[in-house]
Amino acid sequence: MFIRDAVEADVEAITAIYNDAVLNSTAIWNDKPVDVADRLAWLAARRAAGYPVLVADDGSVLGYASFGDYRPFEGYRHTVEHSVYVREGQRGAGVGRKLLEELIVRARGLDKHVMVAGIEAGNVASIRLHERLGFEQVGLLKEVGVKFGSWLDLAFLQLTLGSGPVSD
Ligand SMILES: CC(C)(COP(=O)(O)OP(=O)(O)OC[C@H]1O[C@@H](n2cnc3c(N)ncnc32)[C@H](O)[C@@H]1OP(=O)(O)O)[C@@H](O)C(=O)NCCC(=O)NCCS
Repeated sequence: MFIRDAVEADVEAITAIYNDAVLNSTAIWNDKPVDVADRLAWLAARRAAGYPVLVADDGSVLGYASFGDYRPFEGYRHTVEHSVYVREGQRGAGVGRKLLEELIVRARGLDKHVMVAGIEAGNVASIRLHERLGFEQVGLLKEVGVKFGSWLDLAFLQLTLGSGPVSD
């Protein structure tokens, strides 16, 4: 298994992983699945912004990860928010860790200062993954989401990548 940049041919698999999370989990707080065109547009937008979309590849797509602007205001330009998804049946085998490790390398390469993850507070696997890679929980918003008939809490975890002064 290796990590590489996604290409258009991966988008069908990315869409299936995304839609599985939409339909069967509280990892994504959407209710409706999307089509391949939606994810192709997302891939194009991420690329146009200079941001990575990574896949874990063992001959098939095992998972994917990406980051984008944390918030669309200039003052947040050194901060990104990321997501990582591993295909059902492939979890717990180190794929998420490999994807997130490479995402951190890419964020450093783009001179980002902070990475932020917004994680449903009951998502033990994701919180554990992030903590293992040095993220710390810095916030908890209570009952800001709803899915499957329950309120959802949102945990914010961050990794500060640099310690220097503001560069620009
Ligand atoms: C969360 C997710 C990305 C983790 O990826 P993964 O490939 O399953 O995780 P890894 O095998 O790389 O494990 C990374 C660490 O998390 C721990 N972990 C993984 N699954 C776990 C679970 N269900 N419970 C507790 N810890 C878990 C591993 O033990 C490992 O820690 P360790 O180094 O101490 O052993 C994956 O489970 C997933 O895609 N889940 C559904 C979508 C999702 O929740 N995405 C995140 C949205 S914020």
